[in-house]
Amino acid sequence: MDKLLLGTIFSGLLLSVQSVDAQAVNEAVNQVEMAIHLTPDVDNGRKVYMLCAVCHLPEGWGTEDGYYPQIAGQHAKVIIKQLADILARNRDTPTMFPFTLLQNLRLQEYADVAAYLARQPMTPSNGLGPGTDLERGRMLYEKNCVDCHGREGEGVEGEFMPLIQGQHYNYLVRQFEWIRDGKRRNADDEMVKQIQGFTDRDISAVMDYTSRLKPPAERRAAPGWRNPDFPSFVR
Ligand code: HEC
Ligand code: HEC
Repeated sequence: MDKLLLGTIFSGLLLSVQSVDAQAVNEAVNQVEMAIHLTPDVDNGRKVYMLCAVCHLPEGWGTEDGYYPQIAGQHAKVIIKQLADILARNRDTPTMFPFTLLQNLRLQEYADVAAYLARQPMTPSNGLGPGTDLERGRMLYEKNCVDCHGREGEGVEGEFMPLIQGQHYNYLVRQFEWIRDGKRRNADDEMVKQIQGFTDRDISAVMDYTSRLKPPAERRAAPGWRNPDFPSFVR
């Protein structure tokens, strides 16, 4: 991934949303560029993750109500980009913002924690939608999402396309609406255009379908699994 391609990925921001601060975007591009080329120290990533476990829980599974997303199993590059975007305020995440400040988290630590999380098993029981409109969801997904997010929602790491399989339904719906409405300013320009015509019913259907796309068996934890890296965590 060279800087030019990264610049293109971020450039939709500048074209589509006037309020975005060009300097903030450039800073995010530079940080991602630097962090993805560092050699990660997974063991240090585990230590850094202690900061994050308060909200995302020791397993990195977030909460089934979707307030906190599952971040376990996400592609490392996608995690690094989201951290840089939250830091640059391209995403409105006031609760998490302080944790991305570089005084707390150096670029090496972005790389370390991302590598740690990417290796963690994913939840076997994520939050699902109502299950009433899945055929419509499947059709919408296959027509509109497969090219970028993959048939099983596995994403494409090299292109910063997030893995969205097995994610909590409420989180998916919230992000989708924020991307559509331009509230999530780091979004993919083409995706923003493509989803403008989606009705509430469409959104619910396609996200319900997405929430039921299962990570491969070897990427899922057994029911009841607890992360042994944090034995003394108080839940
Ligand atoms: C105070 C709570 C809190 C802490 C601590 C926290 N996060 Fe988050 N994080 C959130 C919330 C809430 C969201 C979802 C924001 C939204 O809805 O856009 C989020 C979103 C994310 C995302 C984006 C997920 C996606 O699918 O795009 C990543 C990646 C992430 N967090 C990683 C981390 C890491 C790594 C740490 C530790 C360095 C951390 N978070 C610490 C609350 C927190
Ligand atoms: C042109 C490529 C493209 C298409 C088509 C597309 N997406 Fe995306 N999508 C992306 C990219 C890139 C991101 C990550 C943006 C960023 O860096 O934050 C994203 C982010 C998301 C997210 C937020 C993920 C997270 O972890 O926070 C969801 C949910 C999502 N897409 C769902 C969908 C669905 C459902 C469809 C089909 C209706 C779709 N996308 C179509 C490229 C695309």
